[in-house]
Amino acid sequence: MKGKKVLLGVTGSIAAYKTAILVRLLVKAGAEVKVIMTPSAVDFITPLTLATLSKNPVGVNYFNPDNGVWDSHVSYGLWADVMIVAPATADTLSKMAHGICDNLLLATYLSARCPVFFAPAMDLDMYLHPATQNNIQKLISYGNKLIPSGNGELASGLYGEGRMEEAEVVFEVLNNFFLNGKSLKGKKALVTAGPTYEAIDPVRFIGNRSSGKMGFALAQSLANLGAEVTLVSGPTSIQISHPLIKRVNVESAEQMFVACLSEFKKMDVVVMAAAVADYKPSFEVHEKIKKKNIDLSLSLVQTKDILKTMGEQKSATQLLVGFALETENELENAKVKLAKKNLDFIVLNSLNDKGAGFNFDTNKVTIINRAGKEFLLPMKSKAAIADYIVALLVDAISK
Ligand code: CTP
Repeated sequence: MKGKKVLLGVTGSIAAYKTAILVRLLVKAGAEVKVIMTPSAVDFITPLTLATLSKNPVGVNYFNPDNGVWDSHVSYGLWADVMIVAPATADTLSKMAHGICDNLLLATYLSARCPVFFAPAMDLDMYLHPATQNNIQKLISYGNKLIPSGNGELASGLYGEGRMEEAEVVFEVLNNFFLNGKSLKGKKALVTAGPTYEAIDPVRFIGNRSSGKMGFALAQSLANLGAEVTLVSGPTSIQISHPLIKRVNVESAEQMFVACLSEFKKMDVVVMAAAVADYKPSFEVHEKIKKKNIDLSLSLVQTKDILKTMGEQKSATQLLVGFALETENELENAKVKLAKKNLDFIVLNSLNDKGAGFNFDTNKVTIINRAGKEFLLPMKSKAAIADYIVALLVDAISK
């Protein structure tokens, strides 16, 4: 990112507030940033904010009567290594798709010779309208790169697609673009996924409802950025195929412990997304337990805490991520777990939200880092959450 020239086009959407964070992240990473706004974008965030953060004047009109300077769309277009229109409203998308250029941002878009990204932001029905979808497809056909909108609460109060992607993820998309899609190249990651099965007898087991979807999405996101991933999975029907993902199937917590600890030392990143059983039957019966006319009680013993063991052994450069599933005092309990297991991040799942948790394709999480900073994500696809977690990891690795 150092020395790269990023041209940010901001349009009139409430999501414009996210550009302040985006500009800050880009500048912090060493990029040179120039901002152009549409006239309606200035109703949502002031040019002064973006000029201060980007350390460059912000272009809104072709001509600035205050200083007599003509802001040339051609020179902006030639200057940039990459242009990103974020947030991109339905109106601007439509104008970009049809070559309309009635403001500085649009004229610059038509003049830009560099790759162009766009991050749509609008209300659910506007986003789903065939006109908008056709415009998005048109822009993709011109070679522009879509940063898909997330799912969640919209400014209107409706829920659904249309939220502009979070600044951290947009930043990571750009970072990854400059790194040629491989910001984790050469890094090794261990990811666990799914439930564990603790055998009672050859037929029965103690298990849980984990689907493995979150862990598999994380493995995919890490591999997409070039990391070499070992995915240790409990029983699940999910399939995955990626040249950088090596899958190791296990069943019990003990098998997961052995598989993880044998790989741990060489890992740069470990993400424990598996729902590991905390208890297992105190002994395994090798014949099927027959029904008798009396009640049966099962005595349980603790399993080994894989994450805690890794937290005790971890070096200063290894990053350790745990998950917490809580039903009460959620944040407080998650923070205790983060400290107790010596983690760099903990991802708090809530079972209290509709559409979140086991077996859903969506989830709602709060990520807490070692310093206690909280990142509250709205309801999103597990793939989008995985991208967000991985973006935070890339940021932490590069520090
Ligand atoms: N975990 C682990 N080994 C275990 C149990 C849990 O590595 N034997 C990991 C999980 O993969 C998760 C984190 O620890 O990343 C938190 O798991 P959780 O079961 O919620 O925490 P516990 O510390 O076991 O506490 P409790 O179940 O009482 O909430």
